[in-house]
Amino acid sequence: MSNMTETNQHILQSMQGYIERVKEILPTLYSHTPKACINTYGCQQNVSDSEKIKGIMESMGYELTEDYTKADFILFNTCAVRGHAEDRVFGNIGRTKQLKKSGEKILVAVCGCMAQQQIVCEKVKKSYPYVDMLFGTHHIQNLPEYIYKRLTGSGRIFDISDDFNEVVEGLPIHRDGKIKGWLPIMHGCDNFCTYCIVPYVRGREKSRLPEDIINEARQMIASGFKEIMLLGQNVNSYGKGLDCDINFAKLLRELNGLEGDFRIRFMTSHPKDCTLELLDAVKDCEKVEKHLHLPFQSGSDRILKQMNRRYDSEGYLNLINEAKKRIPGVTFTSDIIVGFPGETYEDFCQTLRLVKEVEFQALFTFIYSARNGTPAAKMDDPVSREEKGKWFSELLAVQEDISKKNYASYVGKTYRVLCDEVVGNSKLSGKTLFAVDIEFDADESLLGKFVNVKVDRFTNVLEGTIV
Ligand code: SAH
Ligand code: SF4
Ligand code: F3S
Repeated sequence: MSNMTETNQHILQSMQGYIERVKEILPTLYSHTPKACINTYGCQQNVSDSEKIKGIMESMGYELTEDYTKADFILFNTCAVRGHAEDRVFGNIGRTKQLKKSGEKILVAVCGCMAQQQIVCEKVKKSYPYVDMLFGTHHIQNLPEYIYKRLTGSGRIFDISDDFNEVVEGLPIHRDGKIKGWLPIMHGCDNFCTYCIVPYVRGREKSRLPEDIINEARQMIASGFKEIMLLGQNVNSYGKGLDCDINFAKLLRELNGLEGDFRIRFMTSHPKDCTLELLDAVKDCEKVEKHLHLPFQSGSDRILKQMNRRYDSEGYLNLINEAKKRIPGVTFTSDIIVGFPGETYEDFCQTLRLVKEVEFQALFTFIYSARNGTPAAKMDDPVSREEKGKWFSELLAVQEDISKKNYASYVGKTYRVLCDEVVGNSKLSGKTLFAVDIEFDADESLLGKFVNVKVDRFTNVLEGTIV
């Protein structure tokens, strides 16, 4: 950590001070080892943040539990990307009310993207009096301080200030998995797609230093991880604002050069920043998955403009064709929004056209959800939810046929897969370098190993045999 800034060191020291203080008072408050239940919603960024929260909780002497009814500290790390996600969280926060009546010293905390919004902060303050603390996405490192203060008589704590927008290095971490691990390479987003809340709740884009990323990757590899997933809202713009000669393509090449038998994945790629240099890096780097998650959101140029996506359908298709040309066998997945304000059936048909033309491996499809404070929330949105639902089903049906056809084309072929999950009795699932999952009979001892599997058939999953 030689290059850690003074501010960063100061933050860690202050955090450590509070960790020690919490450690001291816990035995005076609980007759058992206190338990913490960390509930995570939303994307991998949040899952990765929660691994840090878990690390911090453990370093204070808490034990982790999945069962919130047995927990002394219950935290909700929330997502704000669609209304549905928010409703679910409020329901679950509500369920802790009963527990707090038991008289035990139970703390309830809300953090993450949803908490970062002023309007949510006010709502929790007013209507959820049993929530002890709420903090935004820039304050994970302050958790020990909040806990210490609240346990020693402070009032409820609300902290969503966003003037501090630095990446904090060196936080403790409790990794959920042993085979696949997350590695955030940047935080925040500068793109301001008009429908999206992320830039408001996550702050400006900030890249981590390449040496910090490479060190973390080294540690992960040394502790046995076989798949490193690089995370960022727009990994393709990695390096912007850093004082060194780096971009995402170069970072991939550096990571690919690390010793060891492991794989590198990344998400999310924004089409506007996806360069030929990056495609070539994906092709050249044998550890890098030959798969691009490249959200296009809409196939209509008119809607893309309204969304502020800064590419058009032709540009997107050119990119796909370049990728297909350069990276043999490359697979694609994408995100799509159906029913953006003002979208007509004709616009939607352009989305269908693109889906048919590219033949994605899989799609993540969403019905547009208006987010308070975004420009799109103020746009006219005349199409009914019901109508949007019909378009949505039409899209799913089109993609289902494409997925089936795609999967069927794997039958008879043999792939090197990373055994990464138990899916049944003596049954494992493994991932190919093209991000395709195959299930096969195998002993659990093969978890984390690479094996060759021949695909026998496609039912609703690909099934194969080890060869
Ligand atoms: N940074 C990534 C996506 C992050 S959010 C990118 O730019 O691709 C994940 C997905 O949620 C988005 O790709 C989009 O398809 C969807 N999404 C974001 N805001 C939404 C909204 N208001 N309504 C519906 N879907 C939304
Ligand atoms: Fe949201 Fe657009 Fe940023 Fe993705 S790139 S997080 S969709 S604003
Ligand atoms: Fe949700 Fe925040 Fe991720 S809004 S999608 S958890 S960045």
